[in-house]
Formats: sequence, structure tokens, C-alpha cells
Amino acid sequence: MNHYDCVIIGAGAAGLMCAATAGQRGRKVALLDHANKVGKKILMSGGGRCNFTNYDISAENYLSGNPHFCKSALSRYTQWDFIALVEKYGLAYHEKTLGQLFCDNKARDLLNILLAECDKGGVDIRTHTEIFQVEQAPTGGFSLTTSAGRYECQSLVIATGGLSIPTMGATGFGYDIAKQFGHTVTRRDAALVPFTFKGPWLALTQSLAGVAVPAQVSCAGQSFAEALLFTHKGISGPAALQISNYWYPEDSITVDWLPGVDLPNQLKQWRQNAEKASLGTLLSTYLPKRFVVQWLEFHDEKELLQKPLADWRNRDIDALSDILQMWQMRPTGTEGYRTAEVTRGGIDTDDVSSKTFASQKTPGLYFIGEVLDVTGWLGGYNFQWAWASGYCCGNHV
Ligand code: FDA
Repeated sequence: MNHYDCVIIGAGAAGLMCAATAGQRGRKVALLDHANKVGKKILMSGGGRCNFTNYDISAENYLSGNPHFCKSALSRYTQWDFIALVEKYGLAYHEKTLGQLFCDNKARDLLNILLAECDKGGVDIRTHTEIFQVEQAPTGGFSLTTSAGRYECQSLVIATGGLSIPTMGATGFGYDIAKQFGHTVTRRDAALVPFTFKGPWLALTQSLAGVAVPAQVSCAGQSFAEALLFTHKGISGPAALQISNYWYPEDSITVDWLPGVDLPNQLKQWRQNAEKASLGTLLSTYLPKRFVVQWLEFHDEKELLQKPLADWRNRDIDALSDILQMWQMRPTGTEGYRTAEVTRGGIDTDDVSSKTFASQKTPGLYFIGEVLDVTGWLGGYNFQWAWASGYCCGNHV
């Protein structure tokens, strides 16, 4: 029998942070994971460089059934606290864009920092450990039956993350445990995920595969202006991933391919100047020519490409503005958990303390990280949530 003050299931971002914090407070901590390695998502994130936080973090960057839930932890363990931690270890990092901080070298450098912090706290890390059963012990606390024997603990932390990338070890374990102890689990969907199309729209995206265009995408009252990338299955790139957090099946998404440009006025000006250049050439200051040509062909407006600007009617200007600035698309679906960065939804936060992450249903049980119904934007927000919730919980268990 292994006796611990605290057992944490899931050695990902939140579990490692929680283990290090609790261990350094003098708690006897075991961190269990069924995978062969810890922190796999840290290693694969940000193209191997891990976008570990963002200079600009607030509750507005998160989705949840209770939008206030994340505020307490995010204010008690901020991006500046995490930056101070990595700077203490001399991690080289840089801001890529929009406040997003990445390792200069490899995500492994960041994982090593978390492992060093766990080491300082004397945390026992056990990989290859399957959890078969979790029960409340008659004397209080919990008893776990695992492939590596039995564990007993006073506090049990569930940090098993979401459902994305099952090949990396993602499971629904955390949701099952939550239900076992009387918690509600909200609807879950693959999020921060590329969209797929069928039929003619698929043919269009395939013909443009590899082309990236800065665009403003809007859905459900939310907008993002970032690059949108055409793929062989549909659309991806930061703009598509961001808006996928807000998209539900059947919703349509509006795309403005010329954000900030007053296209009708610009076209009228070109008409007035009797510009000789073709529309494709004129628009190529804003958009790739290949995109403009394919786009107009797809929308049966090919003749506008040849028509001298001086001959344009207002009706032509309206038609072009509509297809370039108010394009409505209805994706067939998404690529799903196979490629999604996160799971939207999760354990309902109503029955979890936002300060300690303790279950309000079962004393001694805690939930942290992505397994909860808190989903961040693309840009380091999900890791910051993992660090913040892990730290606050680690100070309590
Ligand atoms: P996480 O998924 O990290 O850890 C859960 C752990 O639990 C895993 O080690 C898993 O093996 C273990 N586990 C699961 N089931 C178990 C079971 N039944 N028994 C035992 N152990 C079990 N975010 C960000 O902010 N910046 C970024 O750059 C990226 N990039 C990115 C790229 C890709 C490809 C993905 C898939 C995701 C991202 N993310 C991201 C999201 C980020 O990785 C994610 O939100 C955090 O890792 C969540 O941390 P958690 O600790 O909650 O779960």
C-alpha cells in the first residue's frame, strides 16, 4: 500500500504544476499517469516550442458556463508569476505575435523546469500507471486500485485533461470520476480545431490548399482577425481555430477577407480614376491574386475580372463587396478530437470551488486544468489556465 497526502492523476501541465506546488509545501505527493511519458502535450504544443502563456490574459479569453469561474485563479497566479518562474531557470523565450510567448529552443526546456520544481517538492512521479478504481476510504480520503498497486491519500486531484489527441493519452477518465462523485459534466466538443467542408466548397478549399489569407471571422457575436488557411479538407489557421471555440453545428461563419478596408469606396475610387489595371491586379495589394481569381470564379462573378473598372455598375460593387467582405460559410463539421487542441466544455464549475478547486460534493476531491468547463483561446491561454488552476489547488491540497 502506498500512502500519500495527495495523489494527482494526470501528469500534464496542470498536474505537474499542482504536484510541484503541493510538494514544496511539504505534502507527500504522488503524480500518476497512464502514459509512458509526462507532459506530452507540452512537448508537442506550439510546433514543439510551446506557447506557454500570453502577456495579455483576462477572463474574456476563456469560455465557460460560468464566465466568472476562472477569474480568481487567473488573478492569484498570473502570467507574470509563470514568466518569473521560467526566468528563474534562465529559459530563453520570445513573443511571437499578439502577446504569445514561446520557448526559443524546445518545449522540453519548459518541461524540464516543471520536473525540477516537482523534484524540489519530492514528488513521486509514476508513469505507465493505469487507474482501475477510485473509492472513498472508510477512514476518509481515497483508495485507488492501479496497475502499480494500491494507493491511499487524503486529497485526490483529477488533472486528466480533455479528449483531444487520443493517441497522446487523452481519455474521458476525469469526466467518469466526476460523474461517479455526483458532478455534472457539460456538453463537450472538439475546439481550436480546423473546419471541414463537403461538395463545391470542399472543391474550392482544395483548389486553394496552402494559401493563407488574413481575414476577420465572426460567429456568435465573436470576431477574430488573424490568418485563415485553406486545406485539403476545409479551412484552418489561427482565425479558423479561434472561431471554432464559438461555433456549433449548423452555425454559419462570416468572413471578411479585407478587414479594415472600405471596399465599396475603394472600388468607386478606382472606377472614378478609370483604372486600367485588372481587378485581380488592383486587389493584389490586399489579397493573393490566385485567391481573387478562384474566389470570383467560384461565385460566378468571373466576368468582373475582365470588366474595365470604368464600366462597373453599383450592383457590381455591391456583389463584390458581399462575396469578399460578408462571405457566409457553413462548415460541414470539424476535424474532431484527432487534431483539436482542446475540448470545449467539461466538468461543470458550479460544484467546484474557484479558489481551491475542491469538489463541493465530495470532500478531498479536486479538479484542475482542461478537464473543467473552462476553455481558452488560442495563444497560450490554455496553458496559463493549467498553471493557475494547478498552483491554486496545490496550495490547498
Ligand atoms: P493535459 O492533457 O496536459 O494532461 C492530462 C494528462 O492526464 C496526460 O498526461 C494524460 O496522459 C493523463 N491521463 C489522461 N487520462 C488518464 C487516465 N485514464 N489515467 C491516467 N492518466 C491519464 N495550449 C496553449 O496554451 N498553448 C499551446 O501552444 C498549445 N498547443 C497545443 C497543441 C496541441 C497539438 C494540443 C493538442 C494542445 C495544445 N494546447 C496549447 C492545449 C494544452 O496542451 C492543454 O490545454 C493543456 O495541456 C491542458 O493541461 P491539462 O494538464 O489539463 O491536461
